[in-house]
Amino acid sequence: METSLIQKKKFFIIDFDSTLAKVESLDLLCEISLEGRPDKDECLRQVQEITNLGMEGKINFSESLTKRLSILKANKRHVPELVERLKNNISDSFNRNKIFFEAHSEQVYILSSGFKEVIVPVVAELGIKAENVLANSFEYDEEGNIIGCDKENPLAGDKGKVATLKKLNLKGEVLIIGDGYTDYEPKGAGLSSKFYAFTENVRRQSVIELADHIIPTLDEFLFLENLPRAQSYPKSRMTVLLLENIHPEAIRLFKEEGYNVEFVKGALDEDELCERIKDVSILGIRSKTMVTAKVLEHANKLISVGAFCIGTNQIDLKACTTKGIAVFNAPYSNTRSVVELTIGSIIMLSRNIIQKSNWMHEGKWDKSATGSVEVRGKKLGLIGYGNIGTQLSVLAEAMGMEVYYYDVVEKLQLGNAKKCKSLIELLSIADFLSLHVDGRASNKDMIGEAEFHAMKDGVIFLNMSRGHVVNIPALVKAIKSGKVRGCAIDVFPYEPKTNNEEFINELRGLENVILTPHIGGSTEEAQFNIGQFVPNRMTEYVNSGTSYGSVNFPQIQLPELKEAHRLMHVHNNVPGILANINQILAKHNINILGQYLKTNEAIGYVITDIENDVRHSEELVKDLKNIPGTIRHRMLY
Ligand code: NAI
Repeated sequence: METSLIQKKKFFIIDFDSTLAKVESLDLLCEISLEGRPDKDECLRQVQEITNLGMEGKINFSESLTKRLSILKANKRHVPELVERLKNNISDSFNRNKIFFEAHSEQVYILSSGFKEVIVPVVAELGIKAENVLANSFEYDEEGNIIGCDKENPLAGDKGKVATLKKLNLKGEVLIIGDGYTDYEPKGAGLSSKFYAFTENVRRQSVIELADHIIPTLDEFLFLENLPRAQSYPKSRMTVLLLENIHPEAIRLFKEEGYNVEFVKGALDEDELCERIKDVSILGIRSKTMVTAKVLEHANKLISVGAFCIGTNQIDLKACTTKGIAVFNAPYSNTRSVVELTIGSIIMLSRNIIQKSNWMHEGKWDKSATGSVEVRGKKLGLIGYGNIGTQLSVLAEAMGMEVYYYDVVEKLQLGNAKKCKSLIELLSIADFLSLHVDGRASNKDMIGEAEFHAMKDGVIFLNMSRGHVVNIPALVKAIKSGKVRGCAIDVFPYEPKTNNEEFINELRGLENVILTPHIGGSTEEAQFNIGQFVPNRMTEYVNSGTSYGSVNFPQIQLPELKEAHRLMHVHNNVPGILANINQILAKHNINILGQYLKTNEAIGYVITDIENDVRHSEELVKDLKNIPGTIRHRMLY
């Protein structure tokens, strides 16, 4: 009886370089030890080349090690920095699965041709015991230079991993995880039942071909072996498709979560997207990709769509909602950028800088102050007091401007800003008028002849919101008559589709008019912010069910899932669903720990946290999915 129990015990033999650590430690040591040397890049290249030849089994290990050490010229004093850097380079899926290492600290071994001095403190971060680290040791000369390794250790020689594992003589099932040929060798020698090729950091075809399973992340291994893990269902099995050159930060964030990420530089047309979308769980687009009802018909696994921009007109939101697909966008990632351009333009216009600069280029020196004014103490009128309007209000006050605003809805006044009861009132007060309304259809031509007429003479006018909001012929007339002394326009009723198309507009050539090609929100920071904001909302939704910030889902902000299972149920907004869910849970004798419900006109979203010791029968899931009106059901545990 006892023997059979021992034999069933599993041992996990894990490689270090490029598996537990994202990188090869010798490459890193090389970078540290060669810092400042002119031949650094060449040495690095040589070491990497030798590492790869060894990994592919093309040269033997001892040869590879000696060659690399002779290039390295490393010293004992470099080791602490190497350890620190490696601690910051633990593979993401190892880092997030500490729960597994804690539960199996006796059975996890690190088997590596790397060096104990380096590996032991790094793997201690995951709770792996020093005595379970099987690796080489450095040999130093009197000055602490690393000149080789302990030759007595079998790991310093050929087939070192085979010899070491044989000697260890583990009684139980031995599973090996690694990325290189030498990691496979013990399996080849009959010392292990399965070799898992780990591809999170590197993918070697010759090694993959020898594997029992390819595991893109540790999550996949833990799922296959049904071991304690951070992700109930491995994200590596879920595809994220990012189109239209979305910022690399988004790719990094999705990869860090463990998703299989596919990236396409341009947009896809409807037919291409219908084909590509079939296996996609998360789709990221910008403004050019149309997510139509037809596309969504082909989306069998789609959970969420992210618009890496502000507008969502390119997405059929109704079709997404009825399919239970949550859509997210980035409503204020570029707010600050628009505000800064507006402030800059206000100052440039009040000093007539564009004209003065143009004159200088023509050789004309005009030092007069006529017409140049400070912005301090002047009245700034904001039309629309939303994300941009309010932030501009705060910054403008900091420059000493007096801020007035008008908005169609009641808004909290920030700082000393004063609310106007009507647009006309605001127009008649302001020295500077800046438009920050949204692009709703009813705002078309909201600033026309009558509105310009109501403005102060010599007003400075800015539009950074939407082109159709201002009637351009009326603006041109107001500029020519002197009513508008200067203006800055970033958005136009018609904007060229590409950089090759000519910009045609009556505003061209007018004095003290700053024209910019819809770049109010176009900064590197804004792109980076969008690249962070949207993936964060989407992963939060996938991981916890929180729909905060979704443009089509009822918004629920949920507490963290702790020692519970979470059921997420999306349904048509009809009466009786909550009662149905609870009846089914009662039938299965399941205790509810917490429940949250929100609805919008179209759908309802119910989150139910239940005790985590409950074994979920397939029957339960089937019953919940069969509730009439159910659109989607998901479970987290
Ligand atoms: P927001 O939705 O937070 O604020 C818009 C505000 O305008 C809301 O408070 C709304 O109640 C108000 N509003 C709508 N119609 C109005 C009307 N007729 N009269 C008075 N108030 C009205 O939008 P956010 O983020 O502040 O953006 C403002 C505008 O800036 C949008 O049109 C947006 O498309 C544009 N934008 C332009 C960029 C550029 O590159 N130039 C970049 C980012 C945004």
